[in-house]
Amino acid sequence: MWGGRFGGGPASLMAEINSSISFDKRLWRQDIAGSRAHAEMLAAQGILTREDADAILRGLEQIAAEFEAEGVTEDHALEDIHMHVEHRLTELIGPVAGRLHTARSRNDQVATDFRLWVREAIDELNGAVAELQRVLVRRAEEHAQSIMPGFTHLQSAQPVTLGHHLLAYYEMLRRDRSRFADARARLNESPLGAGALAGTGFPIDRHATAAALGFDRPAANSIDAVSDRDFALEFLMAATQCSLHLSRLAEEMVIWASQPFGFVALSDGFSTGSSIMPQKRNPDAAELVRGHAGRISGAMLSLTMTLKGLPLAYSKDLQDDKPPVFEAFDLLMISLRAMAGMLDEARFETERMRKAAEAGFSTATDLADWLVRVAGVPFREAHHITGRAVKVAEEQGVQLWELTLAQLRDINARIDKNVFSVLSIEASVASRTSFGGTAPDQVRLQVGKAKSR
Ligand code: ARG
Repeated sequence: MWGGRFGGGPASLMAEINSSISFDKRLWRQDIAGSRAHAEMLAAQGILTREDADAILRGLEQIAAEFEAEGVTEDHALEDIHMHVEHRLTELIGPVAGRLHTARSRNDQVATDFRLWVREAIDELNGAVAELQRVLVRRAEEHAQSIMPGFTHLQSAQPVTLGHHLLAYYEMLRRDRSRFADARARLNESPLGAGALAGTGFPIDRHATAAALGFDRPAANSIDAVSDRDFALEFLMAATQCSLHLSRLAEEMVIWASQPFGFVALSDGFSTGSSIMPQKRNPDAAELVRGHAGRISGAMLSLTMTLKGLPLAYSKDLQDDKPPVFEAFDLLMISLRAMAGMLDEARFETERMRKAAEAGFSTATDLADWLVRVAGVPFREAHHITGRAVKVAEEQGVQLWELTLAQLRDINARIDKNVFSVLSIEASVASRTSFGGTAPDQVRLQVGKAKSR
């Protein structure tokens, strides 16, 4: 490739450290698409003859068929995917293959390929997130009025519905999709034609290649186009955020599936056994989703460090941009799919959740609110009165609603028998009708919106 100026070939260690084919072979489709667009444009501009361009295009088509059928055979001496394609093209059509690289550099080539790859990755992830959302919405509708304890500090706080809890994740994933969409919109500019860094003297048409590759426009600055990887980092940041959301859901599945909780039974398909303890049913998939979030954020930090302080324009450090992106994509993709499968088949133990929701005097706030609303007590005083009621109930070993009216009136004379209508957990959740609240009607409203979206 650069033999003209060199007497000997690279040391074998040099070839080894330089080689990226083991991972950048994943760009072969994008590389061939970029070359096609480039060759077409060169012919249209009269930079290549039509015959030469046609020979190149036929050759590229055959290479695509070969790679599709057999994969890319790695050769360290050929460094990267761009040289693998060019080398094979030369084998197939002879020296005319060398005309393809007119008005192009591997620097704009790799930046173009990688943007195309990340764009597709975003589209695939978007589909996988949507699939998980569909499962969450279906389960939320099914459990719009199944009551569970809502937690703060992982202490029982107020009863909520399971549907409401699941829809919280639906909302997080909506924002994740919007972050991916934002990243996609910003990355969709074509580096092709930026050359090594300075542009080219050939009369190329960058608007034509940009359009042919589905980009919105050519990137406006050739130095920026070949040297920045903010699109990849932004993708990794969006992926990290999404994986963090999944890790919280995964953590809840792990806790809920544990025996003391027993809120969920995972299906056989999404559980594993133990080689020594026959009774075990482990939530390994959820644990791995939780674990993968660490690796995905590690990938994000890896590219962050690669980019820090890098002078313009291209440096070979940038070759290290790809492994973290590929790794994060693979890990997030399988996490999303496993999560969807797990939730689709999980059995929620609604009786057990209901029982747990009754524990911990979870309707104490409802008693305080009733004192404010019906008896006109200032909230701080109502809080105090309710605290005394909880203490009495605790001493008697009963629920709040099992206290007698006499016991309650002993605590505060303004309490009357109507208070019992708010003390059950059903009454509690049904009363939370504020927009976005946990009342079953509100949950169904949000389910309806999610479905129409
Ligand atoms: N394999 C290289 C990469 O991924 C392609 C660009 C090489 N450019 C260069 N000037 N050596 O970054």
